Amino acid sequence: MGFQLLLSTLALLVFLSSTNARTSRELLTTGDFDVTCAKYGAKPDSDISEALANAWSDACASTSTSRVIVPNGTYKLKEASFKGPCKAPIELQIQGILQAPRDGNQLSKPDTWIEFAYLNNFTLSGGGTFDGQGEKAWKANTCHKNLKCSSMAINMRFYSVSNSLVKDVVSLNSKNFHVNIIGCEQLTFQHFTVSAPGDSANTDGIHIGRSMGVNITDSNIATGDDCISIGDGTKQLTVTNVTCGPGHGISIGSLGKYQKEDPVSGIHISNCTLSNTTNGVRIKTWPNSPSASTASDIHFENIIMDNVGNPILIDQEYCPWNLCNKQAPSKIKISNVSFKNIRGTSSTPLAVKIACAKGLPCEKVEMSDIDLQYNGNEGSITSQCSNVKPTITGVADTLACATKP
Ligand SMILES: *[C@@H]1O[C@H](CO)[C@@H](O)[C@H](O)[C@H]1NC(C)=O
Ligand SMILES: *[C@@H]1O[C@H](CO)[C@@H](O)[C@H](O)[C@H]1NC(C)=O
Ligand SMILES: *[C@@H]1O[C@H](CO)[C@@H](O)[C@H](O)[C@H]1NC(C)=O
Ligand SMILES: *[C@@H]1O[C@H](CO)[C@@H](O)[C@H](O)[C@H]1NC(C)=O
Ligand SMILES: *[C@@H]1O[C@H](CO)[C@@H](O)[C@H](O)[C@H]1NC(C)=O
Ligand SMILES: *[C@@H]1O[C@H](CO)[C@@H](O)[C@H](O)[C@H]1NC(C)=O
Ligand SMILES: *[C@@H]1O[C@H](CO)[C@@H](O)[C@H](O)[C@H]1NC(C)=O
Repeated sequence: MGFQLLLSTLALLVFLSSTNARTSRELLTTGDFDVTCAKYGAKPDSDISEALANAWSDACASTSTSRVIVPNGTYKLKEASFKGPCKAPIELQIQGILQAPRDGNQLSKPDTWIEFAYLNNFTLSGGGTFDGQGEKAWKANTCHKNLKCSSMAINMRFYSVSNSLVKDVVSLNSKNFHVNIIGCEQLTFQHFTVSAPGDSANTDGIHIGRSMGVNITDSNIATGDDCISIGDGTKQLTVTNVTCGPGHGISIGSLGKYQKEDPVSGIHISNCTLSNTTNGVRIKTWPNSPSASTASDIHFENIIMDNVGNPILIDQEYCPWNLCNKQAPSKIKISNVSFKNIRGTSSTPLAVKIACAKGLPCEKVEMSDIDLQYNGNEGSITSQCSNVKPTITGVADTLACATKP
């Protein structure tokens, strides 16, 4: 009896330890949640909103690292909300093409197609494409002349996403901004591609606001508005090895349009190429700002301009479509700004314009090694400065504040 008991106890122990081993092996291999598996049932050419939401919810609840996969193929996606907090690091790997509804009225939130929120240690990857199918929306967009226009859907919104990486994905033909980053920390975009025609309205590539430690590197942005726009509250932003064009350039602002904007500081833009853009690198602030703020510690270095309008521009009288009172100056104080090693061709004769606010001059502005040629035939290259006394080295006289307005 005693021997038999011992034997069965041993057998039980062996059984238990083998199931334990099997369970932990399964935990390691069940980290993948493929939306096309039987449980989720996504199929190419049909809407996968529900399958993707279910796969995300299971992956997000997983206590070990997990991956949601959308394999090759073209899928319709009405909308998606990837929300955390999740229990462990999580990756969304999009290998296929996701298509938004052409008609923005089909979205439950008219201003958002896909959102990522409350995530930490998140990776978006896979080489896939987020196709906003914006052609119809661009034609209906009146926001440039009508402040009360209905807003169009942004392809991807990032809200409160930290220690995270977005790499090897494409944002195509967004109806509105391609990417909007708000309230994020330590978020990197790498090998990110934005693609939309030069005449698509309001399709900023990546907009950043109220975020710290965002990095954008090794990326290619071709779109119909600013390639990168930097809103209030952006701190410690690094942009490097980015190509931009077509588009409206890389822009701090516009700032000073709304009440209580947060300061902008620690902006480093380097090793970028702009081609055929309507502006180069600029800081724009509205006149008559409702409240005061600052933009400081902003540095542009090693930038190639290829047929770029207004390559270097600080405009504190930014007032598109005359939607403001130009008489009252901007209340955004600009300081510690440098433009270093900026070369190439300008498509406008006024290649450098630094127009600071009356009564609130820009301080510590530095220009060095600026070498630009005008490639048109409407006069010769020139520069203009107001309410600023920049430090200038290695810049031809024509580009060194040659005229006063
Ligand atoms: C998915 O697409 C990639 C690139 O186009 C290709 O290399 C790969 O073989 C495809 N995989 C499948 C399962 O079709
Ligand atoms: C993210 O997850 C990886 C892999 O589990 C881990 O090594 C890293 O410490 C995590 N980082 C943060 C900031 O949580
Ligand atoms: C962002 O870029 C800066 C400068 O290149 C680098 O020091 C920092 O580690 C990067 N941050 C992340 C989160 O990749
Ligand atoms: C710049 O980014 C491109 C991808 O857009 C990459 O092929 C290239 O190697 C990067 N250059 C450097 C110096 O990292
Ligand atoms: C920009 O390029 C220069 C020269 O190739 C290199 O030394 C520098 O590290 C690069 N800057 C960044 C932030 O990668
Ligand atoms: C810039 O525009 C010119 C004329 O429109 C065109 O020929 C050229 O290919 C464009 N360059 C780039 C890099 O897109
Ligand atoms: C100006 O910018 C430089 C370079 O980023 C930085 O080291 C310095 O602290 C800034 N100075 C002020 C007064 O903000």
